[in-house]
Amino acid sequence: MATIKQVAKRANVSVGTVSNVLSDSPQVNPLLRARVLAAIRELDYHPDQVARSLKVRQTKMLGMIISDITNPFFPQLIRGAEDAALAHGYLLVTFNTDDRVEREKQALSVLRGRRVDGVLLIVAPAKGDNTHIKATMAAGVPIVCLDRLPHGIQVDSVSTDHIKGAQVCVRHLLSQGHRRIAMITGSMELQTAQDRLEGYKAALKEARLKIDPEMLREGDFRLEAGHRLTKDLLLQRVRPTALFVSNGMMALGAIKALEETQLSCPKDIAIAVFDDLPLAGVYRPYLTSVAQPTHEIGYKGAELLIQRVEGKMTSAKPVRILLEAELKIRESTTAKLISP
Ligand code: RIB
Repeated sequence: MATIKQVAKRANVSVGTVSNVLSDSPQVNPLLRARVLAAIRELDYHPDQVARSLKVRQTKMLGMIISDITNPFFPQLIRGAEDAALAHGYLLVTFNTDDRVEREKQALSVLRGRRVDGVLLIVAPAKGDNTHIKATMAAGVPIVCLDRLPHGIQVDSVSTDHIKGAQVCVRHLLSQGHRRIAMITGSMELQTAQDRLEGYKAALKEARLKIDPEMLREGDFRLEAGHRLTKDLLLQRVRPTALFVSNGMMALGAIKALEETQLSCPKDIAIAVFDDLPLAGVYRPYLTSVAQPTHEIGYKGAELLIQRVEGKMTSAKPVRILLEAELKIRESTTAKLISP
C-alpha cells in the first residue's frame, strides 16, 4: 500500500504539498498539483482515512436513518444523498428503523460511536419521544431531517410541501366529479400523514363538502394496511367513488383489494396516491400520483448537512427547505363521473 511519503518522493515535493493537494488547497502551484496527482495515480495511492480522521477528528462519514429500504420511496432518497456525499468526498452509511423508535435510538447510538460527522434522519413515529435526537444534537453532531419533521425540535430539514401536494391531488378528484372521496392516511404520529390529511380536508372545504369520518381510515404506509383498509372502505353500504391513498405501498395494497372485490379502477372507483411509484406508468391501472422530488430532497439534505459539518452554514436558526410536488395525472382518475 503506497504511503504519502512515497507519493511526495515520486512527485519530488514535500509531504505537506501532497497533503495540500489532498485537501484541495488553492495554495498549491498547478504544476506541483499535476505532479502530485500523477504520482497518486501511478502509485495507486489512497489516503488512510481512518488515520486521518483520528488526526483531524473528522471521519468524512455521514449516517442516514430511513424507515424501510424495501419501500421504493427510500432508495431514491438515499441515492440523492449519496450523490451529494460522494461529490464532497463523504461516505454514507444507512440504517433502517422499520418505523420503530427503539431502532432509531440504536442507529443513532451506533452512528455516534462511529463518530460520523453528521446524520440525515427520517424520523419514526415516536409518540413525542425525541430525547435521543436532542441529545445527539447537543453532543455537537449535526442532524438534518428529511421528508418528515420530528415534533418539538427545531432542526434543519428538507421535505415536500405535503399539504399542497395533497390539496392539488384532491382538487383533481373533485374536478372529475367525485364527491365521496375516501382517504387512507399514514400513521397520524407522522407529520407527513398529518399534512396530507390537512391537504385533503382543505380541498374538500374549498368545495364546501363536509368531512365524513366514514371516508377516513388511518394506515401505516405499509401494503397490508392499504389492502385491509381499502376492502373495509369498499364494503361499506355507501362506498366512495374515489380513494386518495397517502403513500405508494398502501396504494399497491388498494389495487390488490380491488381485484379481490371485482371492482375496477377507474370505472368503479378512482385511485390517486401520494408518491409516484417507480412503475406507476407501467402496470395497470396507471396511477395518478403526487410525485415528490425525492432525489432532490436527498441531495439538498446531504449538501445542507455537509455545510453544517464544515462550518459553512452557521445560522443558529434551523434551515427549512420546502420543495414542490408534481401531480402526474394518469388513467386511474380519468373516467369522468356522470353522477357523483
Ligand atoms: O412511503 C413512505 C412515505 O413515508 C412516503 O410518502 C414518504 O413521504 C414518507 O413520509
